Parts: sequence; C-alpha cells; structure tokens
Amino acid sequence: MFNFAFITDPQIGMASPNGLEADDSARARLDKAVDFINANDDVELVIFGGDHVNHGDSVEQLDVFLAGAGRLKVPWYGVSGNHDQHAVYMTHEATPNRFTLTHKGCFFVGFNASALRGDLEAEAQAEEWAYLRETVAAAPAEATHRFVVMHWPLFTQHPDEEECYWNMPNRHQLVQFFKESKITCVLCGHWHQDVDGVWQGVPLVTSIGTCRQLQYPEETAFKLVAVFDDGFSVRRVSVETVA
Ligand SMILES: [Fe+2]
Repeated sequence: MFNFAFITDPQIGMASPNGLEADDSARARLDKAVDFINANDDVELVIFGGDHVNHGDSVEQLDVFLAGAGRLKVPWYGVSGNHDQHAVYMTHEATPNRFTLTHKGCFFVGFNASALRGDLEAEAQAEEWAYLRETVAAAPAEATHRFVVMHWPLFTQHPDEEECYWNMPNRHQLVQFFKESKITCVLCGHWHQDVDGVWQGVPLVTSIGTCRQLQYPEETAFKLVAVFDDGFSVRRVSVETVA
C-alpha cells in the first residue's frame, strides 16, 4: 500500500495581489500543500495536474512554481495545462508536460490534454493520441492499477453537456479508450472544483486547484490517494487554517 498526492492548478501568479510570493499568493497556498506532504512521510510521490503558472510566458512565475515544487522531499511529476501552453514554458527545462511511471506495481501515465483536446495544431493532437496509446499499450501486464492524469476533465456535470472551455470535446472517444484499457481512475484539474464521477465504469476525479476557487467559494485543498492491492481511496485535504 502507498499514498500519493494529487495537487492541481497551483497557477502561480493568479490571485496574488501583493506579489508572487506574498502571504496571500498562489505560491503561499501551494506551500501549505507542500508543507503538509513534507510533514506526512507516508506520502511517497506527488503528481501535479497542470496550470502550474498563470502566464506560460512568464519565466518568473515558472521559477516560483519550480522552487515551490522543489521543496517537496518526495519525487514529483506533472502534466501541463492550458495556461502552460506557451513556448517559454514548454521549452523550459524541467517543467512538467507528460510522464509515465510505475511505482510499487502501479502504473501512471500523464499527457498533454490541450494537445489531445485539439487546441494545438492537428499534428500535435495526433502525436498525443499516439503517445497515449503507445504508453498504455506498453504498461506492465502485471500492473495492479492504471492511473491516468490529464489537465482537462472529460466533463464537469454529465457527458451530454454542451462543449465548452471546461470539458473535452472528444470525451466519448477517450472514455472508450480508458474503458478498453482498464484504466483504474482518471485524475483531472482545470475546473477548480471537486467532482467525483463514474462514466462507463471509469472513475473520474477532478480536484479543486490550490491557487483559488473558481466555481464557488470553498477551501483550498488537494487530494490524497491511498492505493491498496485491490482498490484505492481518495481523500480531500484542506490546507486552509481554521481560526
Ligand atoms: Fe486550466
């Protein structure tokens, strides 16, 4: 058994009226999540769900994010979000875009959901599909679990909702692929709200971002996932301090 943390949308620079690293900044809120994880030595790895910075062309924001993530005592991985799709970000060494990982028999794949969504050129979308298919096909046959990490949720309320800025237009094709690939759970960000759903037997978990709430007021939080032999559980961890 092991635990991993899922932190999404730290979006450094957003809702930071007194500076990138002030006490009321997105960096300070990310720090609280990092502090919790560093103080709990049963968390073995951290995965970031994208939108690491508010402005993908800001090297300053990027450096603040990397310094914040760099405080983690455990290995961390991540996928890029729509705010990260800028040449400055995407060519910056060490910034997360995709990853694959096998940890204690559990397989993870993270991909660029902006590319797969079709927001970039058609070639990038085809390349991302190829990456996803090839990576999942190469997953160890004995993997106990298969987690997918992507910035965009497939949908926010139900699969037949109108296509918009918040969901994946190719969600039917994706859920079919996840189902056929026996994916354990899909973890997402972008919507800045906790959504726990199941579609065609595929669990979908979307987490609020640490940078700030968007849909309605709620606590800054992230998710802790406990993985055990024949299942998993997901817990919300608030990083707000109660007075
Ligand atoms: Fe986003």
